[in-house]
Amino acid sequence: VDLHVSLAGRGDRTTRIYRQLREAILDGRLRPGDRLPPTREFAGRLEVARGTVAVAYERLIAEGFAVARVGAGTFVSSSVAGEPVDRSAPGGAVRPRPCWEGLTLAERGGPPARYDFRIGTPDRDLFPFATWRRMLAEQVRASAYPRSGAADAAGHAGLRAAIARYVGASRSVRATADDIIITQGAQQALDLTGRVLIEPGDCVVVEEPGYPRARLLFGCLGARVVTVPVDRDGIDVTELPAAARLVYVTPSHQFPLGTPMSLARRTALLEWAAGRGAVVVEDDYDSEFRFSDRPLEPLQSLDRAGRVVYVGTFSKTLLPMLRLGFLVAPASLQPALRAAKELTDRHGDHAVQATLARFIDSGELSRHIRKASRVYAARHARVVAALGGELSIWLDPEPSAAGLHVAARLRPLTGISIDDVRDRARALGVAVDSLAAYGTGHRPPAGLVIGYGAIRAEEIPTGLQLLTRAFRDTAALTPATTAQPPSRRVDP
Ligand SMILES: Cc1ncc(COP(=O)(O)O)c(C=O)c1O
Repeated sequence: VDLHVSLAGRGDRTTRIYRQLREAILDGRLRPGDRLPPTREFAGRLEVARGTVAVAYERLIAEGFAVARVGAGTFVSSSVAGEPVDRSAPGGAVRPRPCWEGLTLAERGGPPARYDFRIGTPDRDLFPFATWRRMLAEQVRASAYPRSGAADAAGHAGLRAAIARYVGASRSVRATADDIIITQGAQQALDLTGRVLIEPGDCVVVEEPGYPRARLLFGCLGARVVTVPVDRDGIDVTELPAAARLVYVTPSHQFPLGTPMSLARRTALLEWAAGRGAVVVEDDYDSEFRFSDRPLEPLQSLDRAGRVVYVGTFSKTLLPMLRLGFLVAPASLQPALRAAKELTDRHGDHAVQATLARFIDSGELSRHIRKASRVYAARHARVVAALGGELSIWLDPEPSAAGLHVAARLRPLTGISIDDVRDRARALGVAVDSLAAYGTGHRPPAGLVIGYGAIRAEEIPTGLQLLTRAFRDTAALTPATTAQPPSRRVDP
């Protein structure tokens, strides 16, 4: 154990060493069974005589804090239980700013489920590890790093050029390498955008239901966050507060409902933003996986007034743990965004960014997306088929043609509690997220979000049969006065 001991202070050196070791044992920094440094080495490090350390150890042994094992050394006694010290100041513990205090982020918790329909991750097993490893290895050598050690906060130039070409071709986003800043996923893109745009108290609009990480982040950056409902066309533009400075939307695949924003709504939103001088943040987080209709033009390419910040991520196409994303911002915001990136994070991992550039330029990304899309399309089809069966007694699926999940609302008047269904499903080995987790209002949307990033196609029918059983079991336990129709919508 590389323990820090200070010889400054009162008392002779042996006593000071003894006291600090005893304190470390009592507060748990040294745990039962940990080996104390050999006396010779420790004395050398502290620049004291070996005997000084040896006497300190003997005191610890005499008092039962340590034991000596011949030929092996001195160890913390297994009979002392350390307790972490309470480091709070006498005047009370140090407190964060109110917005951070008590902020709890729902994390994918609990043990792994046999049938896992929780959303948030793509299939790890589809990621082409061997290709990525080979390309990464090519970048991890001295000649791949700039000699000066200085790197552009906007990110690897080759990657910015590759992304500009890629999103230009695949999403018709209008961008050159200079319009792009590489970020640690979409989250950092939202953070940078919020930092440079939000004054304390500014009104920021997010969708209801919507993406909690965006809503909470903007709130913690000082915004007054207002939620505006989405319908089947997207965010309701007529409900936008006149004071809104920034509107955050997910037009390709509304999160979590999955519906695309209609063209009419896109146009209305852009006109609204241009008229008010507001900024629209377009989070295009998983539009690459598309199973039927042609994607609509992103807001970014429809925008003629320079009001859109487009956010992209490789969390769904590759892996969220790579933390690779980007933003495309109007020229008027570029200097501030680059400065914010430099001051908060400097630049990301050079080798990983260079690897992604190579991955895109060599055609591997497109190949991977084509392959993964086929896999996800098959899973999507199975989920949609199951939602059209007995589950349709209780669930009304939202139209979906893209992404890695399907949302389905609980039909009105069924009287059952979706939390009870979720708990029953969990007991049957099925994990699934509740739609309510993404709402904020007094009446959060009741329903489920069924993800298929983490479950193989073959397992989907059984998993959803068990979910059906969970609905049946819950309905059977629901008092007749509240459990109303099952007006079956299933074909006989
Ligand atoms: C709406 C939305 N935006 C962005 C992301 C991806 O975030 P990041 O790129 O920070 O991993 C997700 C992931 O679940 C998401 O649901």
